[in-house]
Amino acid sequence: MTKIASNLQIDSARLWDTIHETAKFGATPKGGVRRLTLSAEDKQVRDWFRKACEHAGLDVHVDALGSMFGVRKGRDMSKPPVGLGSHLDTQPTGGKYDGILGTLAALEVVRTLNDAGIETDVPLCVCNWTNEEGSRFAPAMMASAAYVGDFTTADILSRRDAEGVTVGEALDAIGYRGDVPVGTQKLGAFVELHIEQGPILEAEGKTIGVVDSGQGVLWYDGKITGFESHAGSTPMPLRRDALATLSEIVLAMEAIAKKHGPNAVGTIGEAVIAKPSRNVIPGEIAFTMDCRSADAAIMDALDRDLRKAIAEIAARRKVEVTVDLVWRKPPTHFDPKLVDAVESAAKMLGLSHRRITSGAGHDACNLNTRIPTAMVFVPCKDGVSHNELEDATQTDCAAGANVLLHTVLSLAGVAS
Ligand code: GLV
Ligand code: MN
Ligand code: MN
Repeated sequence: MTKIASNLQIDSARLWDTIHETAKFGATPKGGVRRLTLSAEDKQVRDWFRKACEHAGLDVHVDALGSMFGVRKGRDMSKPPVGLGSHLDTQPTGGKYDGILGTLAALEVVRTLNDAGIETDVPLCVCNWTNEEGSRFAPAMMASAAYVGDFTTADILSRRDAEGVTVGEALDAIGYRGDVPVGTQKLGAFVELHIEQGPILEAEGKTIGVVDSGQGVLWYDGKITGFESHAGSTPMPLRRDALATLSEIVLAMEAIAKKHGPNAVGTIGEAVIAKPSRNVIPGEIAFTMDCRSADAAIMDALDRDLRKAIAEIAARRKVEVTVDLVWRKPPTHFDPKLVDAVESAAKMLGLSHRRITSGAGHDACNLNTRIPTAMVFVPCKDGVSHNELEDATQTDCAAGANVLLHTVLSLAGVAS
């Protein structure tokens, strides 16, 4: 790394301003962001981002699933660019940092290089991946999964949200069905900055998480079919109550995850009673399950134990329970050379750091199956994320962006 490059720092105030400027697209009264993928608010932030990228001199294009790529020329255009970025969509009650930090920090890296007049050997590509969150369309991180060939574009385009709108229709509605086939934009490496979304860095007083692995994920759609009947006249032993059944499943899931802990978690995050009424015993419930572990054998054990427990509960309560596995993402082991590059950047900048496993899923986890990939984490307040109260400091965000900058420079090369 050259002297100029090693002294280089991103503009902390400018990064902070862009985070707060874009937080107005879908701002919630509690200080969070509601920006479901491919919604009107997502279009607003995408339009802002496209303009900012173009203003920074990037050549922006959009693929058939709406993922956005902004290419900064390098000296050797025969080499695939080093990718950097994350996502701009949020949870229904999301925060200002999840995904947004990594995407806007990527833009900030480019702005910093422009200001310093630094040209890299290898081109750079700033990325905004469509639907990382997975709360409107399942699975999460669908565009990066299609990018690496885990799903076909046609399959993803046909996925529907709760209102029956397809991904294709939603892309057309906001004008972001791009003309570039998915996978066309080649990347030689990918680096994603993100808030930790957990409590470890803050508890240990460390600024940088050098992410070397990520948990695997199991997503299920479940349905319980019991029998609707009168809440006043049906004796307790004769009931086939779908909600009472779900309650047992929730507790069974909690017990199973704890049994396989500390390296396992399980959540039932959605449950909908089909025809809710105060004086009708619930007869039908649709629900989701999310189980995770960084250990593939534990993922298998979670699946086995859950299915066994659910079968026992269903038989005893004389209800039908169906459970469909809709997504299985194996644990991630990031590229050792890139993980070392992140660690070296943190060391060079004199930032406290530790190796860490990501509890959340990320586009980087998908990309890692085809492209050397690594991640940088910074702390978030009380480890809280997927919540409007999500918070992080300007200093930590800037530190993470500087690690991103120097990791990318070490991969893309700067003339000496
Ligand atoms: C993505 O936000 C996830 O569910 O980990
Ligand atoms: Mn995220
Ligand atoms: Mn998220």
